[in-house]
Amino acid sequence: MEQYAIKGGNPLVGEVEIGGAKNAALPILAASVMTDETVYIENMPDVRDTNVLLCAMENIGVIVKRTDRHKVTLNASNISELVVEDENIKKIRASYYLIGALLGKYKHAEVALPGGCDIGCRAIDQHIKGFRALGAEVKIEHGLIKTHAEHLRGSHIYMDVVSVGATINIMMAAVMAEGTTIIENSAKEPHVVDLANFLNSMGANIKGAGTDVIRIKGVSHLHGTEYAVIPDQIEAGTFMFAAAVTKGDVTVKNVIPKHLESITAKLLEIGCEVEEADDCIRVVASKPLQHTQVKTLPYPGFPTDMQPQITVALGLSKGTSIVTESIFENRFKYVDELTRMGANIKVEGNTAIIDGVSRYTGANISAPDLRAGAALVLAAMSAEGFSTVDDIRYIERGYEDFHLKLQGLGAQIELVETERDLQKFKLKIG
Ligand code: EPZ
Repeated sequence: MEQYAIKGGNPLVGEVEIGGAKNAALPILAASVMTDETVYIENMPDVRDTNVLLCAMENIGVIVKRTDRHKVTLNASNISELVVEDENIKKIRASYYLIGALLGKYKHAEVALPGGCDIGCRAIDQHIKGFRALGAEVKIEHGLIKTHAEHLRGSHIYMDVVSVGATINIMMAAVMAEGTTIIENSAKEPHVVDLANFLNSMGANIKGAGTDVIRIKGVSHLHGTEYAVIPDQIEAGTFMFAAAVTKGDVTVKNVIPKHLESITAKLLEIGCEVEEADDCIRVVASKPLQHTQVKTLPYPGFPTDMQPQITVALGLSKGTSIVTESIFENRFKYVDELTRMGANIKVEGNTAIIDGVSRYTGANISAPDLRAGAALVLAAMSAEGFSTVDDIRYIERGYEDFHLKLQGLGAQIELVETERDLQKFKLKIG
């Protein structure tokens, strides 16, 4: 079984290159089925979720060529299936983006109900409400969401909750509908904007992405394009917090600082120095960390995908901090693991009350989901002594070469597969 072996205590120092955003790449890949012409995508992260989606797309007849590790060419002119139900696709949340994309182009889609990280109840009622408003029939049968429409017609849709997935899915379904669609109370995340830019580069007419009202005028067809995915806001934020947690000095390169404002603001509040340039940010943590309060919110608020990472930092900060999770109700599962490393955190409902401790101590821990897994790795890197982190397949869903990038910053971390590898690592680090 693969796991990370980590010897903590080294401040992370140096520069790290941030890859393309997983949560932008996934809908962009799905939307590529909406044209018969070839689509070239650059800055594609090589992570498990994008690879599972690419594989499912190949299975329905999309011709996928990886021209290098981060470039992919797709041609969907010969799609042979509108039913997507391979075993792996159920495991990723973004499988549902194929519903909006296939429905938008072919007016029919049957896709296995999505899985994803177990971070709470992940309803899809807003997606369904949007598809129905556009004129589609939607049924859930035998584990599949089945949608069909004779015609899709533009509609005025008010979202009851701010949902990234539903905004994206409705946007894709509406791009080729007759007339105009207005999505009110839409999500404003950078990846929503990136998908809109991608679709516009294929000839769509989408305005307002990045605000809470998106207007889409339907077009009759979309053409091929060349597009580069935006940098990953959460990968960047994770490495910024790695600097804070290990008292290090890390520069994240190839980022859009505007997308990182809420993360930067919190790092400043807890006593880190942050220097911004055009496409990089340096975080220096030379002073003791201070307590703060944070509530996760839709963009531009503090991202739920950074909640475990900031909690790990606040666990080492002076005084009492409060973290409120307002997006997913089950996103504190990692706290038990952190407690085993010496953290003093009490969870009440959607709030964590954190009394900072002076250090964590190494332990054998498991990643309960993607972001929590990455956050526990940060905790292990700051901890005194030796740790192992199991279930790293979760981390591999969204972080490319995580341990190699950390090694590049001076971390003592290795991916080990056997007890023998583990013993070798222990001997090496002494
Ligand atoms: C996306 O999930 C991301 N996933 C998540 O990232 C991220 O945590 C989340 O947005 C919030 O930013 C992908 O982009 C693949 P939502 P999504 O729909 O789209 C409720 C990661 O670590 N809701 O914005 O599933 C829902 O229950 C992952 O990379 C409804 O009630 O999130 C939640 O409380 C984890 N009905 C809230 O809205 C709906 O129909 C936000 O969910 C849809 C959502």
